[in-house]
Amino acid sequence: MSTSFTLDTSTSRANPTPAPMKRLTVPAIRARKVDGVTAEPVVMLTAYTARQAQLLDPHCDILLVGDSLGQVIYGLPSTIPVTLDMMANHAAAVVRGSYHSVVVVDMPFGAYEASPEAAFEAAAMLLKASNAAAVKLEGGAAMAETVAFLVARGIPVMGHVGLTPQAVNVLGGYGARGRSDAEADKIVSDAKALCDAGAFAIVVEGVVEPIAIAVTEAVSCLTIGIGASAKCDGQVLVTEDMLGMFERVPRFVKRYEDMAGLITRTAETYAAEVRERSFPGPDQTYQPK
Ligand code: KIV
Repeated sequence: MSTSFTLDTSTSRANPTPAPMKRLTVPAIRARKVDGVTAEPVVMLTAYTARQAQLLDPHCDILLVGDSLGQVIYGLPSTIPVTLDMMANHAAAVVRGSYHSVVVVDMPFGAYEASPEAAFEAAAMLLKASNAAAVKLEGGAAMAETVAFLVARGIPVMGHVGLTPQAVNVLGGYGARGRSDAEADKIVSDAKALCDAGAFAIVVEGVVEPIAIAVTEAVSCLTIGIGASAKCDGQVLVTEDMLGMFERVPRFVKRYEDMAGLITRTAETYAAEVRERSFPGPDQTYQPK
């Protein structure tokens, strides 16, 4: 981001414009939930590139470099093939493009499940390569020991319960979770286990609303809902879904724009102008002096 200066004539001081914002911190965001109440909901969106981060950053508290980039950026069939290097490169770009939001980076499938030590190695690689502030990992009680191990060694962790896309082969699809009593109880106890282990926040994805509310009331850390409930402590969406880049999106996505339509119309206009030789015009060509 380029910086210019505005002169304050009363003090003769040159102030940088826009005023540099201090980057938020994990403890500052975590501290928003007091006695079970979060007065200022946490705003989180996914970001994968530097320019996207620049545009989203002033409006968000957290930018999530989600492993959803596997599908969104790389056209992969699921998040399973996403690698540590892919996550590290995109996370570094998002950190370079932001100056205000906390950047959280997803641990990809296979990088953290084997042991707390393996998780530490992978998380340390991600944070060193990108300068992101925290990692996110999927799974409930089974991951509690790993969460405690990472937090004790200086790595803030965001959990992820309910619909956990990396477990698609076990879950059998991307449908909403928590419809049976057993499943609902497990989601609540998973969230409690992660929070007790030291997670500062937990993504609650694709769960029936009463369970999302029950989780939010049961844990002292923040809940970030996606396909969950407005009563969660914050919300996240995949930015491309929200912008209308895809024809098919989950039911819980609100499309705020029609970016796919805008890109299609713009490409159509460009193609027509190239074919009729009206682009480039006088404004876009160099003439001899
Ligand atoms: O990978 C991702 O983008 C996510 C969000 C959908 C929470 O995990």
